Amino acid sequence: MKVLLINGSPKGKTSNSLKLASSFIEGVRDAIDNKEDFVVDELNLATMNISPCKGCFVCWKNTPGVCCMKDDMQTVIEKELEADMVVWSFPLYYFNVPGLLKNLIDRQLPMVLPFMSENESDLGSGGHDSRYDLKGLKHVLISTCGFYSAEGNYDSVTRMFDHFLGQGNYETIFCGQGELFRVKELSQRTGEYLDVVKKAGSEYIKGKISDSTKDDLKKLLYPKDVFEKMADASWGVSKETGEKEAEDLVFTKQMAALYNKEAYDGKDRVLEMNYTDLGKTYQIKLGKDGSEVFTGKSLEATTVIDTPYEVWLAISRGEISGTEALGKKMYKVNGDFSLMINWDKFFGASDVKPKESTSKVKEEKTASMATMLIPWISFWIAVSINPTIGALITMVICAFVPLTMGKHKFVIWDRLSIAIVAILSLVAAITKQGDLITTIGYAVFGLVWLTSCLFKEPLCATYVKSSYGGESAYKNPLFMKTNYILAAAWGVLYLLTAAWTFILKGMGFGVATIIINNLVPILMGMFTAWFVNFYPAHRAKG
Ligand SMILES: Cc1cc2nc3c(=O)[nH]c(=O)nc-3n(C[C@H](O)[C@H](O)[C@H](O)COP(=O)(O)O)c2cc1C
Repeated sequence: MKVLLINGSPKGKTSNSLKLASSFIEGVRDAIDNKEDFVVDELNLATMNISPCKGCFVCWKNTPGVCCMKDDMQTVIEKELEADMVVWSFPLYYFNVPGLLKNLIDRQLPMVLPFMSENESDLGSGGHDSRYDLKGLKHVLISTCGFYSAEGNYDSVTRMFDHFLGQGNYETIFCGQGELFRVKELSQRTGEYLDVVKKAGSEYIKGKISDSTKDDLKKLLYPKDVFEKMADASWGVSKETGEKEAEDLVFTKQMAALYNKEAYDGKDRVLEMNYTDLGKTYQIKLGKDGSEVFTGKSLEATTVIDTPYEVWLAISRGEISGTEALGKKMYKVNGDFSLMINWDKFFGASDVKPKESTSKVKEEKTASMATMLIPWISFWIAVSINPTIGALITMVICAFVPLTMGKHKFVIWDRLSIAIVAILSLVAAITKQGDLITTIGYAVFGLVWLTSCLFKEPLCATYVKSSYGGESAYKNPLFMKTNYILAAAWGVLYLLTAAWTFILKGMGFGVATIIINNLVPILMGMFTAWFVNFYPAHRAKG
C-alpha cells in the first residue's frame, strides 16, 4: 500500500497538523496485514519548488496532461497517480488552505480533461472529468486550526474539496486548539488526542471511522475558557499594556489558565509560587469563577510552593513526576496540602479526556484489601466461637473468596492469607484449641505485615497504588515511606494483639479481649486515614 502524505504547512516538519497526520498513518499501518509493502511518501511543500499556475492552458491544448513548467509538480503528479491513499495535511489559514497548498491544487489542472462535464451534484454549474481512473484512490484531509474549535471554520475548505475531489470522496479530521500540539507541558492531553487519531486511522482503513471515535475527535482539547486564557497568555505580551512579559510570568499564567473551576469545593485558595532561583513570587487565586495571577505577595497564601523555576518547568513538561520531585526534596510545600493531593483534579482538565483513553486504563483490575481480610476476619470470629464448625465455615469462605472477589486482582498477599488461614483452621479443628490458634493467628498476621516491609511492595501499597498512579507510585518516595511506616505499624499492632490476647485470656478477661481486639483496629484505621494525609504534608514542608 502506498500512502502519499502532502504536508501543506509552511512550518514543514514542525507542523502541528503533521503530528495528527503521522498518527493517522501509524494507525493505518497498524491495521493492515501486509506491512512490508506499506510505503509512505512525504512531500514537504515548504521545501519544494512549485510555481503558481500561469493559466496558459497549455496542459489542455498543446501538451495534453503535461504542464509547460518544469518544476517539482511533475513529481507530485507522478506520486499521486501511484498512490493508494493521499493524506492532505495542512493548517487552516484565513478559513481556507494555506497558499502553498492552494498553489498545488491549482497545478492539478493537467490531471483533468478540458471538456465540460455535467455536474450531477447541486454544487455548481459545471465540472471536468479526471484524465485518469482514480476511483480507488482514497483521500483524507487532516488539519489543525488556531481557534478553540474546528466547528464552522472549515466551510470554505470542504466546499473547495467537494468540487475538487467530489462530495463524499474524502474523509476529514479537523481539530481546533492546534498550537497546543507543540506545547510539551500539555503533551499528556494532546497525546490522548493523537491516540484517538491513530485509532481513527486503523478504523478508516478497515472500513470507516466509528461514530464513537468521531465523537472523540470532536472533543475539545481543553474547555473554551481554559484554552483562550492559555492562548492569550502564550504571546508573552500583556493584554492591558502591550508590554513584553517575563517567561516565568507567562508560564505561571498558563499554569493558572489550566485551573479547572469545576473542581472548586467551596474553598477559596491562594497558591503562592516562590521561584527560589529567580527570587520571584507569583500568587494564583483559585476561586469558583476561575483563576487570577498576582505578582508578589499581596494576598494571604493558603498553599506555598518554594521551588526552583527549572524544577517546576521540568515537572510540568513531564520530565520528572511532581510527587517524585517532592519526595526527593527538590521543592517544598507549606500550608494546605489538599491542593497538592488533588493537583490533577484542579489542574488536570481530566473531564475532557476522550472515552477511549479512559477505558483503556479502566480495563486493568485492581486489588482489594477485602480479599485479604475476609478469610482472617471469618477465622478470628468463627474459630474463636467454635474451633470445629468455625474452622469448617472459614475453609468454605476461603474456597469462595476467589469467586466472590473475582472482579478484583488477586495478589500475593491474598493467596498467602487464604493459605495461612486454611492451615490454621485445620490445626484448630484437629486440636480443638480455638483460643490459642486464633491468638497465634494474630501473631502470624502481624508477621505477614512486617515481612512485607522487606519487599519492594509493602502490603498496603499493593492495595492502594492504583489510586496513586499504579506502578509509577513506586517512584514516589513519599508514597513508599508512608506505606512502609503503616505496614510496620500494623505488623507491630498485631504482634502486640497476640501478646495481650494471650495474657488477658489467660487471666480470664475474655470479654475485655474481644472488645479491645475490635476497638484497636478501628482506632488504627482512623490513625491510618489521618497519617496518609499528615505524613506527606509534613515531609513536603522540607
Ligand atoms: C496566516 C495565518 C492564518 C490563520 N488563519 C486561521 C483561521 O482562519 N482560523 C483558525 O482557526 N486558525 C488560523 N490560523 C492558525 C493556524 O491554523 C494554527 O496555528 C494551526 O495549528 C497551524 O498548523 P500547522 O502547525 O500545521 O501549520 C492561522 C495562522 C496563520 C499563520
